[in-house]
Amino acid sequence: MKGHVDRRSFLRISALTGAFMGIPQLISAKGTPEINEIIDRISQTPASMGKSVIGLKVPPIKQVRVGIIGLGNRGSGMTMLVDALCPDKAKIVAICDIQERYADRSFEALKKRGQNPVVYKGKADAWKELVARDDIDLVFIFTQWDMHVPMAVEAMRKGKHVAIEVPAATTLEECWQMVNTAEETQRNCMMLENCCYGEEELWILNMARKGVFGTLTYGEAAYIHNLRSMLFDDSYYNKWRIRHNLAHDGNIYPTHGLGPVTQYMNIDRGDRMEYLVSQSSLQASYTEFSKTVSPDNEFYNRTDFKHGDMNTCLIKTNKGRMIQLYHDIVTPRPYSRKNSLAGTKAYHEGYPSRLCIGEKGHDWLKDADYQKYKTEYNHPIWTKLKAEITKYGGHGGMDFVEIYRIIDNLNRGVQLDMDVYDAAAWSVVTPISEISVELGSVPVKFPDFTRGRWKEERELQILID
Ligand SMILES: NC(=O)c1ccc[n+]([C@@H]2O[C@H](COP(=O)([O-])OP(=O)(O)OC[C@H]3O[C@@H](n4cnc5c(N)ncnc54)[C@H](O)[C@@H]3O)[C@@H](O)[C@H]2O)c1
Repeated sequence: MKGHVDRRSFLRISALTGAFMGIPQLISAKGTPEINEIIDRISQTPASMGKSVIGLKVPPIKQVRVGIIGLGNRGSGMTMLVDALCPDKAKIVAICDIQERYADRSFEALKKRGQNPVVYKGKADAWKELVARDDIDLVFIFTQWDMHVPMAVEAMRKGKHVAIEVPAATTLEECWQMVNTAEETQRNCMMLENCCYGEEELWILNMARKGVFGTLTYGEAAYIHNLRSMLFDDSYYNKWRIRHNLAHDGNIYPTHGLGPVTQYMNIDRGDRMEYLVSQSSLQASYTEFSKTVSPDNEFYNRTDFKHGDMNTCLIKTNKGRMIQLYHDIVTPRPYSRKNSLAGTKAYHEGYPSRLCIGEKGHDWLKDADYQKYKTEYNHPIWTKLKAEITKYGGHGGMDFVEIYRIIDNLNRGVQLDMDVYDAAAWSVVTPISEISVELGSVPVKFPDFTRGRWKEERELQILID
């Protein structure tokens, strides 16, 4: 790729990569660097500071002692799912939120269930006291995106395993910080990609591994969810989410659709995502919606949102597979994660779920045939936990399955279902897609967070037991 990056783009790219990769230093007396120089630097692998955590197992923890940070929309509900596993499998030792009312709300809900966690609240750094405790094994992080990595890194340094909400990180530097710290401390750092535990997703994963799709060729993934009124109102702490849409283009929430599709394709377990190209539509919905909110809203009547209404990425894998990935949180259209998978023998498309198999493949399977596949390949965890899933739910049950698996895997001393390399590879789409858009949809290479070990064929723990 020839040509120099203009100064404005260069400054934006530096912010997305962080000082870590030395990109800000590329600017010289001669001017700004060539596009090639930047793209190469993004995919370079920094020196490792510890042993790989691929396959990491820690001794069984009979009752997992849990600390929870962030008790807003997501954290308050997930806390009650952890509570559902107490006291047999877990114990909630401490909870934390900067907003006292949210800390108190969760404390009261837990008290009614006979729990008595220590509460940290009211201060921006109260969470540091929680992660410094010596009676916690696992810290859940349910805060806004920019706090995920600082909290996770500090918690790992204090000896804790961490489970971080999605996306785990938003810059290239943060992705490497997460990987390096997990390797240095030999702690688990798992991103809470709940969609990997959906009944439909685990069913497709099972079918993909058992050969129903034949050779996998391409997939489609998405986060399409009209959130515009929530973006502008006070649903999120300090309106944190709309600030990302104001400041960034690219795919800023990539993992819900991408996580499951990369699992179908064995990414970083025999294949890897090599590069992406990304393009965004014009931005119109943010501006138009901003005219409808109250004049005292700081986002009233604004036109300066950077985020295009729809962002699309095309991802190429080492084995030649292709993933189309979409992000749109402002168009009035139905929710979808796409969840499409194509192979030489079958094709699945989600929303609603439909399956097409074999030579008769001009139409979707009729319900009776579809149900046969459903019964034959349904993941056993959904049968095993049926009663609890019905009772506790959480996005149709996948949230409960996710929490159950983290705690249960730690109880049994087996590896977690997802590792820090998954968290980094899926999250890094955010900065590299924005860089691709910024530079006119140029191909941007994925860093290899596994440092070459993506070539090793290995199975996901969720398919082992
Ligand atoms: N996996 C899913 O299905 C799903 C669904 C919703 C949200 N999420 C993710 O969950 C996270 C939180 O989203 P949300 O909708 O709950 O946002 P939110 O704003 O409701 O919650 C964030 C919480 O973090 C607290 N907080 C902020 N700074 C803090 C600090 N320094 N110390 C302690 N607490 C602090 C806030 O007070 C707030 O209660 C995000 O990463 C989001 O992407 C995931």
